[in-house]
Amino acid sequence: MIVTVTLNPALDLTYTVDALVPQATNRVRTVAERPGGKGLNVASVLHALGEPVLATGLLGGPTGAHIEALVRFPAAFVPIAGDSRRTVTIVDATDATGLWEPGPTVTGAEWAAFLDHFAVLLPEADAVVLSGSLPQGLPPDAYAVLVRAARAQGVPTILDTSGEPLRHGVGAAPDIVKPNEHELAALGQHPTDAIAAGVRAVVVSLGHRGLHAHTADGTWRMPPPAVVTGNPTGAGDACVAALARGLRNGVGQDDRTPSALNNGAGQDDRTRAALNNDRAGEDNDRDGADNHHVGERSRHVGEHSRHVGEDYRHVGEDNRRDGPREHNPAEDRPGNRRGGTTWPAVLADAAALAAAAVVAPVAGEIDLTQYQTFRRTMQGVQADVQPHR
Ligand SMILES: Nc1ncnc2c1ncn2[C@@H]1O[C@H](COP(=O)(O)OP(=O)(O)OP(=O)(O)O)[C@@H](O)[C@H]1O
Ligand SMILES: [Mg+2]
Repeated sequence: MIVTVTLNPALDLTYTVDALVPQATNRVRTVAERPGGKGLNVASVLHALGEPVLATGLLGGPTGAHIEALVRFPAAFVPIAGDSRRTVTIVDATDATGLWEPGPTVTGAEWAAFLDHFAVLLPEADAVVLSGSLPQGLPPDAYAVLVRAARAQGVPTILDTSGEPLRHGVGAAPDIVKPNEHELAALGQHPTDAIAAGVRAVVVSLGHRGLHAHTADGTWRMPPPAVVTGNPTGAGDACVAALARGLRNGVGQDDRTPSALNNGAGQDDRTRAALNNDRAGEDNDRDGADNHHVGERSRHVGEHSRHVGEDYRHVGEDNRRDGPREHNPAEDRPGNRRGGTTWPAVLADAAALAAAAVVAPVAGEIDLTQYQTFRRTMQGVQADVQPHR
């Protein structure tokens, strides 16, 4: 299964008004609510595709309980004391205005409990998705710690975040990094530097212009199946869902650069993995030292995980009932390795799925009919690869 991590989930509220007037009382016509946060969007898309998925992260307070009640796919969150945040979007005929609550501050003990929980999930994970911002209280290298913990268990990771968490995360060499143009510019690093440091692919999403995937082979350029109109929020999350599925299917398994392997960033380097494991353990100990309830929380989480395991088996049964996953001819192209899949096939799928997410009005949803149409369109699209400079 694919595990998605959302450390800062939100209850997304959308208020519709006729015309927003500042410094006045505005009557709200409709209120819509949904579970928000990038990892939840990714899980939602994967679940809609029939892929076994488990969403995890941190949730707390009445808002956290409400988010959990709205989630429609297998999930196992670690409880925190603070109330999860709400994001309010006010939509009128001309524009949208966002109000983002600051969210809870996570304690060291809660972070330590999450690390324990993550370690319990890793043996079941085929790939891990790390998405979105970090809540207050977490160290900026939180994703780097999770990347190393996953690699120590041989589990590939994909990272989609921004700012300092992205900078630290890239330093731990996740398998795939998915910045958009602005996130890449703020990182101030050329993708080839990340590739040299052991990242398999830096997939840069360019809005309606499609995707550029920097890999050890060079840079693949993938246009969208069509430029569509709709809601582009969450298109990046759909793109990440497709990349995660590609990662699970073995894309780029042989791609880490020789220099990166020599540096020990390769997945097969057990010594390095063990070292990383120790480091994650140190972080864990440091955080755990602040609080004596960690063990208690961990036991609670363990119970929760067993429930989720049951849910997961249900999902698996559903999938079996529905028959095998639809055959993707794009995956039959020459050059496929180890029964896995190629970058062009995965990027074509990502472009199709992301466009289908733009067409669907709500973030975290995809238009499945359009997705099939876009996939057929993508079969006629030749990916273009350019060697590194
Ligand atoms: N108008 C569009 N038409 C077709 N495809 C689109 C369009 N907008 C975006 N996409 C697809 O979605 C992908 C992701 O979009 P974008 O670069 O906006 O991601 P993002 O900024 O990470 O979004 P978010 O974080 O809100 O999910 C693009 O690489 C492209 O393939
Ligand atoms: Mg994004």
